[in-house]
Amino acid sequence: MTDSELIMLAEKAMENAYAPYSKFKVGAALLCTDGKVFTGCNIENSSFGATNCAERTAIFKAVSEGCRSFEAIAIVSSGGGETYPCGICRQVMGEFAPNLRIILKNSEGKLTQYKFMDIMPNFFSLN
Ligand code: THU
Repeated sequence: MTDSELIMLAEKAMENAYAPYSKFKVGAALLCTDGKVFTGCNIENSSFGATNCAERTAIFKAVSEGCRSFEAIAIVSSGGGETYPCGICRQVMGEFAPNLRIILKNSEGKLTQYKFMDIMPNFFSLN
């Protein structure tokens, strides 16, 4: 699975985004170390706090299917530019995958990758 392929799967997942309130659609594709891919989209709610981000949708799908070892996540949005994961999603990433690679696409179509620990150092854990 190449980074470009993972981005394409995130773009496909974004088509299912349910974002009637913000109109901001997000898609994510999570690559597990065993090669499986889980995708996710944001799912909003009229009680705004009940909204689930695309990244957490993908991670929770994977964990609920028994996958907890992750290599990379691709994230795209209807905003067009690089869409960084929110703080809550970063905290969830840290729980399972502090070595995660985060693949983003900018408005010119160029891919950039970030190491999770570079964008979320010292995340909370019970240690
Ligand atoms: N959103 C995500 O799906 N992922 C993020 O990392 C940040 C925000 C969604 C939540 C909401 O549906 C919309 O983007 C606007 O905040």
